[in-house]
Amino acid sequence: MAVPLVAIILAAGDSTRMNSKIPKVLLPVAGQPMIDYALQNAEALKPSKIFTVVGAKSNEVMDHLEKRALPILQTQRLGTGHAVQQVLPRLKSFKGNVLILHADACLIRPQTILALRQFHLLQNSAATLLTARVESPFGYGRILRGKEGEVERIVEETHATPEERHINEINGGVYFFKATVLAQALKDLKPAKGQREFYLTDIIPLVLNQGGKVHALMVPDRTEVLGINNRNQLAQAHRLLNFRRVEEHQRDGVTFLNPKTVEVGAHVVIGRDTVIEGNVQLLGETVIGEDGRIESGCHIQSSKLGRGVVVKASRIVESQLGDHCDVGPFAHVRSGSVLDKKVHVGTNAELKNATIAAGSKVGHFSYVGDAKLGKDVNVGAGCVFANYDGKNKHECQVGDKAFLGSNSTLVAPVKIGAKTVIGAGSVVTKDVPAGVTVVGVPGRIFKNKK
Ligand code: UD1
Ligand code: CA
Repeated sequence: MAVPLVAIILAAGDSTRMNSKIPKVLLPVAGQPMIDYALQNAEALKPSKIFTVVGAKSNEVMDHLEKRALPILQTQRLGTGHAVQQVLPRLKSFKGNVLILHADACLIRPQTILALRQFHLLQNSAATLLTARVESPFGYGRILRGKEGEVERIVEETHATPEERHINEINGGVYFFKATVLAQALKDLKPAKGQREFYLTDIIPLVLNQGGKVHALMVPDRTEVLGINNRNQLAQAHRLLNFRRVEEHQRDGVTFLNPKTVEVGAHVVIGRDTVIEGNVQLLGETVIGEDGRIESGCHIQSSKLGRGVVVKASRIVESQLGDHCDVGPFAHVRSGSVLDKKVHVGTNAELKNATIAAGSKVGHFSYVGDAKLGKDVNVGAGCVFANYDGKNKHECQVGDKAFLGSNSTLVAPVKIGAKTVIGAGSVVTKDVPAGVTVVGVPGRIFKNKK
């Protein structure tokens, strides 16, 4: 029978080292608020309840939690032990296990927490902690072990002797406790020597005094225990999480030419044999088809790209590109644009809310905003869809195979018929039928082909 579980996320720290107006736990890390990683990790274990201890700017944090966790207010920031004490009244009759997570540890993998629980249950421990051997233990609690290798206590940086500071096995800040043992130990907890703060780490000897077993599991990937206390660690976490996502996509058959410079959101999907060059950002709910090429300098956000799409140094936001489209360099495809297959968008072109049918070409330096273009339309260099009259936006429609000469302007709203030719430099202010040629300012029908 499964042992009941509750989770506690500690998120009340002042985070003065971050020097931010935003509560630290809401700062974005690799595309999502810091605390979301802890929430996801807790949720992965399906606990009966998730408590989150909140303090600094608690309203903002509470709003963010919504129904995912029960907020518990820690009015005074008196340390991690004190934070867990605030939850005790809610655990009075609870006899299961308690998982404790820090909201500032984004890199812990859910598998690691599952393994820690397994270990905790198998060893029938009263307390189990996650540790890691790190290169630079500065700032972390060091694990002190006895002669048999058993965990005796945790010593924090400020209290460690010079020898203890050399210990490089550190406390990762993830714990499983038997609830009853935890409750008793927290009642016995005293403030740390010379401090006002109650350290959660100081309860290890108290658990041992109760006759409870304490075990530690060392995580092989030491990057998992990174705690984010300052902007430098925030940048490190951002890089590590992105790199982890890149590795997942590599396993799925995606090539990255310069993986360390790429940002990939948590919800991005990339098809096999697509090549992602350096300095590329793929964010939001972006989907990229197979056999594509995303060249250096692209920013693609919440967009869907079909198969074989090539994008060069361009920005694409909330748009859809059909199979074999090619975009850029330096194009800006703004929200609401929907391109069918084989659409070409040239250098420095800008699209906004443009629906473009298959095979059309939007040449260099043109702006197509609030427009519907048919098939095989040619938008020449420097064409502008003047969609804004100073008050309102208006739409243009262009029929199949229409040809807009360089530097022509469509003053919206206008409709251009199929196969119509607009002479270079014309300013079209009225609807134009199919199959004619329009020239001049304002544009007039030059000759009827029929
Ligand atoms: C803590 C551990 C340290 C461990 C490290 C892992 C203690 C005393 N030290 O140190 O052993 O190696 O994490 O990253 O536990 N918090 C509250 N209320 C408080 C204080 C903190 O909710 O009064 C929350 C913070 O928001 C944070 C977490 O607890 O999410 C850890 O606190 P932090 O101040 O970051 O502890 P560290 O100094 O990093
Ligand atoms: Ca920390």
